[in-house]
Amino acid sequence: MTVPSITTALPGPRAKAIIVRDNAVVSPSYTRGYPLVIASGTGSSVEDVDGNVFLDCAAGIAVNSTGHSHPAVVKAIIEQAQKFLHMSGTDFYYEPQVRLAEELAAITPIQGGVRSFFGNSGTEAIEACLKLSRYATGRQNIIAFFGAFHGRTMGSLSLTASKAIQRRGFGPLLPGVYHAPYPDCYRPPLGATAGSCSAACVDFIEHQLFASLVPPDEVAAIVVEPIQGEGGYNVAPDEFLQRLRELTKRHGILLVVDEVQSGMGRSGKMFAIEFTGVEPDMIAIAKGIASGLPLGVAVARAGLMAWPPGSHASTFGGNPVSCAAALATIALLRDRLVANAADVGAHLMAGLKALADKHPLIGDVRGRGLMIGVELVRDRQTKERAAEERNAVVTAAFNRGLLILGAGKNTVRFSPPLVLTRGEADTAVRIFDEALTEIEATRQR
Ligand SMILES: Cc1ncc(COP(=O)(O)O)c(C=O)c1O
Repeated sequence: MTVPSITTALPGPRAKAIIVRDNAVVSPSYTRGYPLVIASGTGSSVEDVDGNVFLDCAAGIAVNSTGHSHPAVVKAIIEQAQKFLHMSGTDFYYEPQVRLAEELAAITPIQGGVRSFFGNSGTEAIEACLKLSRYATGRQNIIAFFGAFHGRTMGSLSLTASKAIQRRGFGPLLPGVYHAPYPDCYRPPLGATAGSCSAACVDFIEHQLFASLVPPDEVAAIVVEPIQGEGGYNVAPDEFLQRLRELTKRHGILLVVDEVQSGMGRSGKMFAIEFTGVEPDMIAIAKGIASGLPLGVAVARAGLMAWPPGSHASTFGGNPVSCAAALATIALLRDRLVANAADVGAHLMAGLKALADKHPLIGDVRGRGLMIGVELVRDRQTKERAAEERNAVVTAAFNRGLLILGAGKNTVRFSPPLVLTRGEADTAVRIFDEALTEIEATRQR
């Protein structure tokens, strides 16, 4: 099969009909960048309902870690589904959940033992981290970062500071949440440079927030994405996370890392925080953990997760079928796919960086493993954000059969399944090149 292969106008007739029905009955709050109606998927390719085949560099927003319907994951799901679908892990026991907690204890970079709380999504993982942080410290306040995305339920939304539309009309949000600048090396905040922004951002917390707004002994946790996802695929320098760890330790504040998007091998290590040598107190995991089945986990130091029966639970959390999918996913990641993400990610990154030589729209190419952002600008000197152009490039790529997504205001993200091959990465670069050429030509007219 040739991938991609586009044989109808997009959307095709069947896709169009489904979109019309969707428009009448589904919540209009969803952000659909382009009209893809999937019929099936395998590996890194997706077929739509009209028989068009796309190369998938979006993976259902960084979720299909092992590719679409990996046979080993599907087998695990079927075998578990034939035994039992649900029993509620909060009221009863079943082994897949125990095994998954044991696996997570083996792969998470926290020494001395951890415990896992199971939910169904990233936002639930964050809510659990928030509640546990307050419970364990007896403190109320939380610090998060501008550009962060931690979810859309009221607690996690209070931390989210990515796009105002996500918050508009929903206030008041959780009190006691403070935001600090994130060390975006391409656009360093606080008048800093790329080299000094780690120190500047941590100093802001210490000398501005702690001095003027919230005493450190009343802060329960600092919540941070090691690589900002929805905010624009910004990679925090190692130094920033190391300084944050030092600051939090000094004040008895918990360090919670949100690895919902950057975790489960996507960065080329199982968790992106591993690049820094920092040991967090809690890790929020979701998205890629179960290859597409709903699962979110808050992993915490065992000594911290000492809340009594009844204090927190979830009917569906840690569903046995999701746990079975997660166990199969972790086995595949450990076996080959984390290494593949590092290898093919470096290859894709090199290909995308090379495009900067011929495309003035490209301002910055950054990321780790198969979590790569390409920031588009109208002018490399002023770094004026090319937001409309970004959307046009994403659409032009779709029309050529490449699925990519935006992140932040003007960044394109590549978050393919971790089974992506070097050949598929080359195809993605070729189509992205064509899409950029098309949009740059329309701008010059
Ligand atoms: C870093 C991060 N945290 C939390 C979430 C929320 O996850 P969910 O949509 O599963 O609730 C997301 C979703 O994009 C995310 O990228």
